[in-house]
Amino acid sequence: MRNLLCVIGTRPEAIKMAPVILALKNESWANVRVLATAQHRHMLDQVNGFFGIVPDIDLNIMRPNQALTTLTARLLLELDDVLQAEKPDAVLVQGDTTTVMTVALACFYHRIPIGHVEAGLRTWDMQNPFPEEANRVIAGKLARWHFAPTEGSRANLLREGVPDAEIVVTGNTVIDALLMTAAKDLDLPVSIDPDRRLVLVTSHRRENFGEPFRNICRALRTLAQTNPDVQFLYPVHPNPNIKDVAHEFLAGLPNFTLCEPLDYAPFIAAMKRAHIILTDSGGVQEEAPALGKPVLVLREETERPEAVEQGVVKLVGPDFHRIVDETQRLLDDESAYRAMARGVSPYGDGHAAERIVRTLREHFA
Ligand code: UD1
Ligand code: UDP
Repeated sequence: MRNLLCVIGTRPEAIKMAPVILALKNESWANVRVLATAQHRHMLDQVNGFFGIVPDIDLNIMRPNQALTTLTARLLLELDDVLQAEKPDAVLVQGDTTTVMTVALACFYHRIPIGHVEAGLRTWDMQNPFPEEANRVIAGKLARWHFAPTEGSRANLLREGVPDAEIVVTGNTVIDALLMTAAKDLDLPVSIDPDRRLVLVTSHRRENFGEPFRNICRALRTLAQTNPDVQFLYPVHPNPNIKDVAHEFLAGLPNFTLCEPLDYAPFIAAMKRAHIILTDSGGVQEEAPALGKPVLVLREETERPEAVEQGVVKLVGPDFHRIVDETQRLLDDESAYRAMARGVSPYGDGHAAERIVRTLREHFA
């Protein structure tokens, strides 16, 4: 038996690692253990509950409005003890959070090989997204297996000098999770008048904190006021830098619903019901095209260029006029809408976890 430790810290890691954990648990050669750093608490627990995953170890690291340095320092110390006790043969991490970067570093110190799920995403700008670009570059430098979602991410890794033999293009496990979920009977989280179009919003990026996020909120308020026949739904990220400002600008508008972060399945239901999605989320940029929903990205760049190139995702930045104009165009111009509402899935076919497990099986079994 080989001991594999799968690490999850935040909501998107739990969603994207779930298909891998579930697939690995069927492998006779693998003793799978799940470590939750719990960089997120409620949002992580909710996803684990949905996929039936119970962490074997839980570091419960989240603190309200925790600084990145504090989070990193506390995690590194805790991880030292865990790795010492667990002695895994390999560790799997997913994505570009502080959990991923810190686990990669701790594993390097302990000389434990890591597999990086969703490897090779790059904007080539360390400040955007902050701190995720640095997190994934560091994880990429230290990884033994690079599970790249697309040929583009493989090319990014090759450009950084990663040997081709260490890269496997797998697709993104987010599509595995989406297909597992979207096939079920899903209930909408709030009642939406069937005659009204729905604009779904999410936003949480650190580089947008402050004035850029205030601009996003101003644009959303203007759109809601000028389109009283359109319903807006915004599950607000619990980071206080987001939550407090969103409520300051958007609470009390009759056609604008602010709510707590939605559980994963109701959020998928909301995406399926949505007419347009405005987001700065990485995962939502991957899921929405597969559901045939036009996405306007509230950022100036993206590490997920494939859907932009296919014309179903457009970057509008945290820019008041571009957000208002592009959203209004999609609401008013039927042909512009139809051009972006084609169902394409450049990020995966639902079999990414199988490919990841096959690679590990060929190495270990
Ligand atoms: C983190 C990741 C980001 C990822 C995002 C997904 C880092 C630096 N950032 O951002 O890459 O896109 O998660 O959502 O790794 N909080 C709660 N309850 C929760 C979760 C968060 O109250 O369940 C609040 C806490 O006050 C916490 C704060 O949000 O301190 C920030 O959490 P943190 O994980 O540091 O950053 P996010 O903005 O969530
Ligand atoms: N999501 C969710 N509830 C919400 C908003 C998003 O379950 O209220 C899911 C969404 O389907 C996607 C993931 O969370 O799979 C994206 O997480 P997030 O936007 O927090 O992080 P990112 O992908 O930007 O790192």
